[in-house]
Amino acid sequence: MNVLEERILKDGIVKEGNVLKVDSFLNHQMDIDLFDEMGKEFKRRFADKPINKILTIEASGIGIACIVARQFKVPVVFAKKSQSINLEGEMYVAEVESFTHKCQNNVIVAQKFLSDRDHVLIIDDFLANGCALQGLIQIVQSAGATVEGIGIAIEKGFQSGGRSIRNLGFQLESLAIVDKMNAETGEIKFREQ
Ligand code: G4P
Ligand code: NA
Ligand code: NA
Repeated sequence: MNVLEERILKDGIVKEGNVLKVDSFLNHQMDIDLFDEMGKEFKRRFADKPINKILTIEASGIGIACIVARQFKVPVVFAKKSQSINLEGEMYVAEVESFTHKCQNNVIVAQKFLSDRDHVLIIDDFLANGCALQGLIQIVQSAGATVEGIGIAIEKGFQSGGRSIRNLGFQLESLAIVDKMNAETGEIKFREQ
């Protein structure tokens, strides 16, 4: 078991509706020593890739992405979310559906921060249905840049995002994959990897 999995067992809380609360160390209060360990692990898993940029999405991906960027010594770009935009300036825009919030969102990156010379590692805190991630991939592809890999802290393996994205051929590395969780007993089962 890795340090993130251990921490999830220690401090994660399983809520009704298949929600895992990790706000005491991951996406509200943030444990930076833990993030450092996660950053090193992503560096190991993507060591052979010519990554020159990290892409994430606001809000909770940003903290992790910055720590991962330290390992790769590259800049971080975060995509902005908004419900509607006037298409002013030069931006890449992807439309994504939020299952949780039941609405359409735009995911936006300024064109000047992503080009066909970029080799991108996408980082995010959670992968559930993968809609946000699909939006990020679409944006990288619109720029003519290369997705070198995708690094996720916690994947909910019982939702469809991970499978669809691996089926597209991307190297998707999740540090913890939760295959089962139970709100009544608090039990959490990780995928062996
Ligand atoms: P997806 O299709 O992009 O995979 O996401 P989904 O709509 O299923 O989830 C919407 C939001 O809820 C995402 O954050 C996602 O990270 C988060 N999320 C999904 N499952 C869990 C969970 O079990 N626990 C926690 N804590 N979060 C979960 P967001 O609203 O897009 O972004 P942010 O502003 O919070 O970063
Ligand atoms: Na989130
Ligand atoms: Na997120």
